[in-house]
Amino acid sequence: MKIFNLLDNESAKYLQLAESVKTNIRKGNLLPGDTLPSVKTLSDDLHLNRHTIMKAFAELIAEAWVESKQRVGYKVGANIPIEGSLKQLKSHDKQTKFKFRLIRSGTSIDSPPATQYEYNFSGGQPDLFKFPFKEFKQHMSATLTRPNLEQLSYGEIMGVPELRLQVKTYLRQSRAITNREVIITNGSQEALFIIAQLLLQEGDQVAVEALGYPPAMAVFNNAGADLVAIKQDQLGIIPTDLEQKIQNGSIRLIYLTPLHQYPTTVTLPIARRMAVYQLAVKYRIPIIEDDYDHEFHYRCQPLAPMASNDPQQLVIYLSTFSKIMFPGARVGILAVNKTLAKAVAEYRMIISHKGNALMQLALAKWMKEKGFERHLKRMTRTYMARREHAIKCLEQYNLFEFTCPDGGMALWVKLKNTSINTSKLAAMARHKGIYIQHEKQYQTVPQCNRNHYLRMSFASMPESKFSDGLSILVNLINTKAEVLA
Ligand SMILES: Cc1ncc(COP(=O)(O)O)c(C=O)c1O
Repeated sequence: MKIFNLLDNESAKYLQLAESVKTNIRKGNLLPGDTLPSVKTLSDDLHLNRHTIMKAFAELIAEAWVESKQRVGYKVGANIPIEGSLKQLKSHDKQTKFKFRLIRSGTSIDSPPATQYEYNFSGGQPDLFKFPFKEFKQHMSATLTRPNLEQLSYGEIMGVPELRLQVKTYLRQSRAITNREVIITNGSQEALFIIAQLLLQEGDQVAVEALGYPPAMAVFNNAGADLVAIKQDQLGIIPTDLEQKIQNGSIRLIYLTPLHQYPTTVTLPIARRMAVYQLAVKYRIPIIEDDYDHEFHYRCQPLAPMASNDPQQLVIYLSTFSKIMFPGARVGILAVNKTLAKAVAEYRMIISHKGNALMQLALAKWMKEKGFERHLKRMTRTYMARREHAIKCLEQYNLFEFTCPDGGMALWVKLKNTSINTSKLAAMARHKGIYIQHEKQYQTVPQCNRNHYLRMSFASMPESKFSDGLSILVNLINTKAEVLA
């Protein structure tokens, strides 16, 4: 039987042969004690010099894969622990069952991602076709041409100093956030995860908006906490409801998206922000402020984050480059006080040592040379035009109700025909190549009878695609209303 093959790579032939022997042992094709073909046979089969075969065997003997027996030849080593393990597995035809520790994420990774649909209305995704990859490549290339070997090694857990400096300056100039340590994380999701692990215990409660961002909810659940939904109206969360729930429970953390409430896009007014902050001070509860798309505000200057006026240092500020660049960049921002920053860095060390230094260095250069700022201006103009277009399109049909948001990347749209179940509509739309999210997906605590809203991104697609996708959706609403009830 001819089971050895050369691997057809660039390594020396004897190493290729040795690797092939190892692979056959690992797979269980050869068991301990099995005799290997003679040097002559292998030399004839593989058209290799005998010397090369002997060298391969010498290598295998040195690593104890093979033993040499006088007058018998070469045999697979008797003490290889891999010993037929795969064969045994096959015979029982079983998969190892792992015991999982607490996992209460509730998220599924089975369905195809939004980007695989022809019409991607997924709220909050940037238009990746508009990213200046060529320009960014120059900064990547410069980073690789003159690599800073120290930065490409371990250390600098909080992010490369160049990027932390750029981000610090950016936060100060654009959001009035000062006096904080900036940590660059692998997306803001990693920052959320670490904060939840550091601050929450099993059985703690986290106050969240009644409609919220599912990955954040998953993080809190995963840390063992229970969610307490705070009522919200057309202005955002209601502080009196928050106070009542603080008094009646064991809330240890408040999670908010004050600038563009996720998913409703409403901006929490100053008076409510102050009321929430005062509650946080009174009951000593930290607030996570997730400022995920601060840049995209169109009607006026966005309100400064709560973190910009936080004398008690209770606000844990999060932001991300996922919207400005692309989610795969995995660059998130955490701005917190020194003590928390140290604890986060220590925890992060356990998870992943550090972030992607190459990406961070290239991004720092891009920011320093103002490419980032130019891109931001371009995209703000683009998204503003797309928002206008989306509004006009929706207004054409007498099917929807919505408030025009001051910013963000999506619209929160109510179907006038409230007998239509938007979960069913979203499911049916998928068969037509449309990815769209519905109210039920955002309910932090399920509310059975409410399912009237859709979240429609206007940012991720050009105007013509939005119109086409919407007309397919409208057709479904008009023709399938009965099935969708
Ligand atoms: C509310 C909210 N927070 C954070 C993020 C970004 O997360 P990340 O930085 O992990 O990509 C998003 C992205 O959709 C979001 O909607």
